[in-house]
This record gives sequence, C-alpha cells and structure tokens, in this order.
Amino acid sequence: MADRDLTILYICTTCKVTGESNSEGHVPSGQRLFERVRDIHAPDSDVPVQPMVCLANCDQACSAAVSAPGKWSFILGFLTPDRAADLLEYGRAYANSEKGIVLRKERPESLRHSIVARIPSPELFKNEAAQVELVAGQQKEEAAE
Ligand code: FES
Repeated sequence: MADRDLTILYICTTCKVTGESNSEGHVPSGQRLFERVRDIHAPDSDVPVQPMVCLANCDQACSAAVSAPGKWSFILGFLTPDRAADLLEYGRAYANSEKGIVLRKERPESLRHSIVARIPSPELFKNEAAQVELVAGQQKEEAAE
C-alpha cells in the first residue's frame, strides 16, 4: 500500500456554482466547502486537506481532487458545501485504497456521480507487467461499476 500520509485532498476555494453571486464580499461555494471540510477534519489522523485556487474544472464546480504517489488521481466536480463530510469520507477511502480506486458503490451516495476525470500515476506504467495489470484492473473495475 502507498504511504497513506502522502494522500492529499485538494479543494478549489474559488469555485462558484452556476448563477452564484459575483458581488464583493460574497464567499464562493468552494471556499465554504473547504471551510466545512476543515472544520470537521481531524488533522492528526486524516488526509491532509489543501486549499487551491482553481483546479481547471470551473464549468463543473465546485471542484476537488485527490492524489497520492503510486495511485490514480481523481478530479471531482458538481460538489456543494453540504457534501463536506462525504468528501472527507471519500478522501479516507481513497487513502486506504491500494491504487486509489474507490468504486462508485463504495463512495458516499452524494459522490457516486461526482468523478469527472482521472489520471494514472506514472508509477503504474513502470514496466510491461505493471501495464498489463493496470489494463486488467481497469476492466475489472468497469465490470464492477
Ligand atoms: S475556479 Fe474552481 S476549478 Fe476553476
């Protein structure tokens, strides 16, 4: 298993959902999502949470991402501040997974359709055997969805 301590949950603090105010002083939904996650997060035992300015997924806001060495990275979209606890739960499941795969049925209900992109770790392609294993794992994952 990859080092759990190196998993990071990124949250875009500048995300605004469709129709959200642009007025001065307005707190963007992404910032409110980050603050809620931070408020319920236990820093001594959980996945580190890192605020970010734009994850280049603005049209599918609010956005977050998870990443760890040797694992798939995932971008999540269509989040709202009330999904903070579910996002944190997903981050923990990701941290505890071997390669970052948390099947849809294993995610909190509100996040079952929130993954908008994924990126493999270069480490998953380190040799031909690893590539064969990666393709087989993808096929198994797709069959389980
Ligand atoms: S402003 Fe949040 S992804 Fe761009």
